[in-house]
Amino acid sequence: MPSLSDPLITDKITLKNRIVMPPMANDMSSEEGEVNRRHLDHYRSRAEAGVALVVVEHSYIMPSGKMTKKQLGIHEDRLIEGLRTLAGTIRAAGAMSAIQLTHAGANTTSDACGCQPVGPSDVPPPRRTEAPRALETGEIGAIITTYAEAARRAQAAGFDSIEIHGAHGFLLNEFVSPYTNRRNDEYGGSAENRLRLPLEVISAIREQTGPAFPLLYRFGASDFMQEGLALDEAREIAPRLVEAGIDILDISGGLCGSRPKDLADSQGYFVPLASSIKSVVSVPVIAVGGITDPVYANSVITEEKADLVAVGRAMLKNPGWAREALAQLAG
Ligand SMILES: Cc1cc2nc3c(=O)[nH]c(=O)nc-3n(C[C@H](O)[C@H](O)[C@H](O)COP(=O)(O)O)c2cc1C
Repeated sequence: MPSLSDPLITDKITLKNRIVMPPMANDMSSEEGEVNRRHLDHYRSRAEAGVALVVVEHSYIMPSGKMTKKQLGIHEDRLIEGLRTLAGTIRAAGAMSAIQLTHAGANTTSDACGCQPVGPSDVPPPRRTEAPRALETGEIGAIITTYAEAARRAQAAGFDSIEIHGAHGFLLNEFVSPYTNRRNDEYGGSAENRLRLPLEVISAIREQTGPAFPLLYRFGASDFMQEGLALDEAREIAPRLVEAGIDILDISGGLCGSRPKDLADSQGYFVPLASSIKSVVSVPVIAVGGITDPVYANSVITEEKADLVAVGRAMLKNPGWAREALAQLAG
């Protein structure tokens, strides 16, 4: 039976234990999206504490997909150099790295992205009020290509893997959710059509990276809302994401966001989602949500509810969380 301190070895990646730092945006860039000294210090301190996999915060693949003004960017080649320093810093500190690729879709404001936000339809996700512009069918191909270009930059920068953001009301989640996707072309309507964009993005990225490069997908496995995506459908979607080329599924919330008000204080609030998805796929699954207690984190692994545990806010508060957790469990 594996525990939190045991390695996870797949044919594409070796993780020295089961602790993941999940992507957490810090808005520490300039408005041009570059890496700076603060990013290096921030990620180094968590990596040095013994985290196996550091997933760098959501990085926008194109200006229309930018969520906040000082978000990290991966939308232009000039950013590769800074990203290379960041990937190298994480590696030198002893962790594997991923970078999360994002198009915010309608989960932004015109003030932040510099245009009317775009989405599958003119329905804003919850907590947003600005009506998005529905993407025309002919615009979607360019977005897919842009994801692949961002993947090329991530690989050129030396990241060990990529995480595609398909949760929390971002563009790919908006296409999958029947609440935000009211389209009547081949990208909307049936479950098959709503899944088309994420599958095409995964294929384009896979083609860009080649078969050996590990790809993670952060999947919003329930919107927790009427008319939204429910776990039953997510259990049918998850194996399709794997078939399309995903190596590790990172399970979080959908349109409800990453920290829904009524759940976000309880230890392991999205673990049941992760555990349910784990039962329908053969790839490793990351669980997240309110995890602060090392003993609880260990139990998620030993009880085989998930293969990896992501610890977000507790690691923001205490950069040494991983070191202390591993020492506590060893003692
Ligand atoms: C400040 C902050 C920024 C976040 N930014 C991102 C992000 O860039 N991408 C993402 O998928 N989730 C993001 N999240 C969600 C976290 O990755 C995580 O899923 C969430 O905080 C729940 O885990 P926790 O209870 O361990 O903090 C963010 C969370 C916080 C607190």
